[in-house]
Amino acid sequence: MNFDRHRRLRNSGFMRDMVRETHLSKDDLIYPIFVVEKPDVKEEVPSMKGVYQISLNLLKEELDEVAALGIKSVIFFGIPNEKDAEGTGAYHDHGIVQEACRLSKKHYPQLLVILDTCLCEYTDHGHCGLIDPNTQDVDNDASLPLLVQTAVSQAKAGADIIAPSNMMDGFVAHIRQGLDDAGYRHIPIMSYGIKYASKFYGPFRDAAESTPSFGDRRTYQMDPANRLEAMRELDSDTKEGADMMIVKPALSYLDIIRDVRNRSDMPIVAYNVSGEYAMTKTAIDMGLMDEEVIAEQMISMKRAGADLIITYFAKYLAEKIDKGEI
Ligand code: PBG
Repeated sequence: MNFDRHRRLRNSGFMRDMVRETHLSKDDLIYPIFVVEKPDVKEEVPSMKGVYQISLNLLKEELDEVAALGIKSVIFFGIPNEKDAEGTGAYHDHGIVQEACRLSKKHYPQLLVILDTCLCEYTDHGHCGLIDPNTQDVDNDASLPLLVQTAVSQAKAGADIIAPSNMMDGFVAHIRQGLDDAGYRHIPIMSYGIKYASKFYGPFRDAAESTPSFGDRRTYQMDPANRLEAMRELDSDTKEGADMMIVKPALSYLDIIRDVRNRSDMPIVAYNVSGEYAMTKTAIDMGLMDEEVIAEQMISMKRAGADLIITYFAKYLAEKIDKGEI
């Protein structure tokens, strides 16, 4: 009887290592940090155990840890003291993430700083752009100049990568032009152009205090049911000059990551979002699953085609990689 002997290559740990197709390395990891303008705060986010809101004056300790673990990039999200209808805190030269970036660059110049270009953490209504009073919807074109201003102020603060997550049409083209005009031709854009209107962002909105006060984000973020639409977003962002593409969320959207991989040569970033973190972390803390599910989830994103992963598990993963357990 002739049949295939697949198990020969599973005989031992070394054998399995030899034929492993997908690997996770520290180079893949981007660690999100929530920075609060209020001083002296280090508070755990209730829906995200192990994730903290941290004040600027305590941020260095966190960065010491990140650097010691060999994590090479961070993305900062800001929680300002005051919010207003225009989200002015987002494009203030001394806004919270701009200052976090300066502090990080002062202590760890090599650590790559990615800044999220969006207004939702800074608007009192919690939406990602300006609200048109007639429609109560975001005003796409009126929001673009403010987003450009935000990106330029972030580049001025020393950001290495600009990551716009606002989902206004034309944001990549406008931000690219704005950065170029301000002398930041060399700064790449990591576009969150494939961003679904997802309930998996719930815990983030707790952490960033950015839940919309009315309505939702479905007129600008994508319908979770759509796959072809993601290809149209990819094509337009490519044309407009994006350097990297984020797919967000990640775990329920692995098919989209694969579609992007098959269509584009751009580096792809999977955003392992707050709800994915909270679900996994809670199940592990309750003893329902072994913590090895975390690495399995990361590998699934890479296997789908992601090059990089933004994840709240980055510190945990870096530690495991150091111990040779991943
Ligand atoms: C918007 C932004 C969001 C996330 C990252 N950037 C929230 C949103 O669109 O409501 C979510 C990330 C996560 O859930 O971990 N600035």
